[in-house]
Amino acid sequence: MRLLINAQEHEVNVQNDTPVLWVLRDVLGLTGTKYGCGIAQCGACTIHVDGQAVRACVTTVEQLQGKQITTIEGLSADGEHPVQRAWKAHNVPQCGYCQSGQIMSAAALLQKNPAPSDSDIDDAMNGNLCRCGTYIRIRAAIKSAADSPS
Ligand code: FES
Ligand code: FES
Repeated sequence: MRLLINAQEHEVNVQNDTPVLWVLRDVLGLTGTKYGCGIAQCGACTIHVDGQAVRACVTTVEQLQGKQITTIEGLSADGEHPVQRAWKAHNVPQCGYCQSGQIMSAAALLQKNPAPSDSDIDDAMNGNLCRCGTYIRIRAAIKSAADSPS
């Protein structure tokens, strides 16, 4: 299968129905995308597919043919995407495990809605769980990223 990940083409020898999460982590070593639940319930594995937030644990490589995949490693060249800057400014992470998924969901939200309301943020982020309870800082960081130039 051919996959376009972070603007680079990869050819991988896996079954068509392999969830892309395993390819990212185990085949390509892109371990920034995390495995939490494996059943689309936690958001830890969130990536972008053609700019939309998608759960990598339930998305097969076959479904991704011809699509542009972005992982946390490819969100910005230098960790300076406005969402990443806001995350640092607000010291959002605690243990960190959920955070790449949170950032990917937040970046996809701001891409389509540059000035989200609280309820827009809740709607976009409610599938991303954080066992450390960083939700208040996540919301503050999204608001400040929305106000900052890209
Ligand atoms: S690991 Fe994919 S949503 Fe939990
Ligand atoms: S920072 Fe620990 S699970 Fe979210």
